[in-house]
Amino acid sequence: AVDISTLYKEAEIFTYDPGFMATASCHSAITYIDGEAGVLLYRGYPIEQLATKASFLEVAYLLLYGELPDERQLLAFEEAMARHSMINENLKGFLGGFHYDAHPMAILVGVVGSLSAFYHDSLDINDPQHREASALRLIAQVPTIAAAAYKHNVGEPIVYPRNALRYCANFLHMMFATPCADYKPGLIAEKALNLLFILHADHEQNASTSTVRLAGSSGANPFACIAAGIASLWGPAHGGANEAVLDMLEQIGDVSNVPKYLDKAKDKDDSFRLMGFGHRVYKHYDPRAKIIREVCHQVLEELADSNNPLFELALRLEEIALSDEYFVERKLYPNVDFYSGIIYRALGIPRNMFTVMFAIARTVGWVSHWMEMMADPNNRIGRPRQIYCGPTHRDYLPISQR
Ligand code: ACO
Repeated sequence: AVDISTLYKEAEIFTYDPGFMATASCHSAITYIDGEAGVLLYRGYPIEQLATKASFLEVAYLLLYGELPDERQLLAFEEAMARHSMINENLKGFLGGFHYDAHPMAILVGVVGSLSAFYHDSLDINDPQHREASALRLIAQVPTIAAAAYKHNVGEPIVYPRNALRYCANFLHMMFATPCADYKPGLIAEKALNLLFILHADHEQNASTSTVRLAGSSGANPFACIAAGIASLWGPAHGGANEAVLDMLEQIGDVSNVPKYLDKAKDKDDSFRLMGFGHRVYKHYDPRAKIIREVCHQVLEELADSNNPLFELALRLEEIALSDEYFVERKLYPNVDFYSGIIYRALGIPRNMFTVMFAIARTVGWVSHWMEMMADPNNRIGRPRQIYCGPTHRDYLPISQR
């Protein structure tokens, strides 16, 4: 790679690269992707191994600290998660201000940003202990806020976290328990959630992570930076795609309609795109989608939902699209979002929570990147240039002469 910063200093030149197709914004030792070969490594470990063998908190520790934890370290990390999982009671008032049918992503952006108002005494970004405390609070509290957003939507009281439960089981408990009925998270659901969270935990410099880094480069506090990442994730071209995939599958309705929708996706005058297909970096099958597709079979079978019509439709859609010249030529394969919504739906997670689920898992990646950036002596404010294409000099005219 060319280090453009030296060229810039010497000759005052810069590159024009909309969408950052060919621009690296940083050095990072967290996640490696080989898009041509369909390889994804977290700190060097293949995603396939982590997805089948690790717990989400082990992976979170790995992303955050660079090494897999030993037993003692994992226990301490799990205890820290339990200790930080309660949100300040006054946040309930803040939550209560949202309209009853506010999108949970809108609630998440606002409430996570508001955490900076609750932790203002430990927001010194130059203090490594403050930075770590914020990182732990974010990873521990985003699930609590996410479940509270859901409870707000359905008009039920917030359910507090339970320290005795593991991270994923605790989230399911906060989602589905009520003051009058306990909820015992099933092992299948917990396992499936653990896997989906691992697959979504990090993906190097995607739009939301780059947003977190750009916000953080100015010295903004971590809660504000993660709120910015959540906002970026929400878009349908990024994390919002998992919600859009289910909308699309329902719209297609039946395999007989697939050719019509593929024609729409190919038509450049039609804004319709095949949601859950295509990726900026993967020009081969997204390794995460491959794992999720396999797990979809297992989860649906174990939940006695093996004839799930949306899953059948998704499988056929993939098959037909991948034998179509348009998709083959452009190397458009299913991405991580194509099948994840089908599992979330089978677990009883409502559709408007799908992107929130993504945000819970990705918080680990965002926080790890923010921590890496803050410890990097080369960190400087992110400040892209532009190619100006507006009017050149013109003189002000009084309003009566315009
Ligand atoms: N359906 C139809 N055509 C597509 C699709 C699609 N899903 N994705 C890309 N294309 C076409 C484009 O029209 C373009 O065609 P052209 O060369 O004839 O003009 C070509 O493939 C290249 O696409 P770009 O838009 O240039 O690719 P880019 O890297 O900018 O975008 C993106 C990647 C945003 C993921 C895109 O593929 C897309 O919109 N996919 C659907 C949304 C989606 O699933 N997003 C989730 C991404 S994964 C994640 O964030 C977790």
